[in-house]
Amino acid sequence: MALVVAPACTTGDDPGPPVPVDPAVIYAQMCARCHGPDGHGDPEIKKTLPAVRDFHDPEFQGRATDESIARVIMAGKGQMPAFGGVLSVPKIQELSGFVRRLGRGASSP
Ligand code: HEC
Repeated sequence: MALVVAPACTTGDDPGPPVPVDPAVIYAQMCARCHGPDGHGDPEIKKTLPAVRDFHDPEFQGRATDESIARVIMAGKGQMPAFGGVLSVPKIQELSGFVRRLGRGASSP
């Protein structure tokens, strides 16, 4: 009987290189398809998920804290998928800071 082993889990004999906590990379891989590379929301996704958050929205910037963002990433909200099962807490915290910097216009307008 085959044992179900989660892929990407350390096997013990080959831990591989430490996974860098680079929020920009994680964002590009897991978030940009909905929120867009610049955080404005992907135009195509917005047709099916109009609720997708624009991180540049002043209303969002005004009320969001690193903590509230981390909570949404971890647990999901509405159509926003939960990432608590795939991302470690430090990565989620890095991401919440990244999302706020993105929304404040750290990238070009
Ligand atoms: C499948 C599309 C999708 C993906 C992938 C996705 N999101 Fe979202 N996200 C949404 C939608 C839709 C909302 C709006 C939820 C609502 O308010 O109902 C949202 C809302 C948010 C919010 C705002 C929460 C608030 O308080 O208003 C944050 C922050 C966020 N997403 C971060 C991320 C991050 C970080 C990732 C990658 C780890 C990500 N999202 C991946 C669709 C997505």
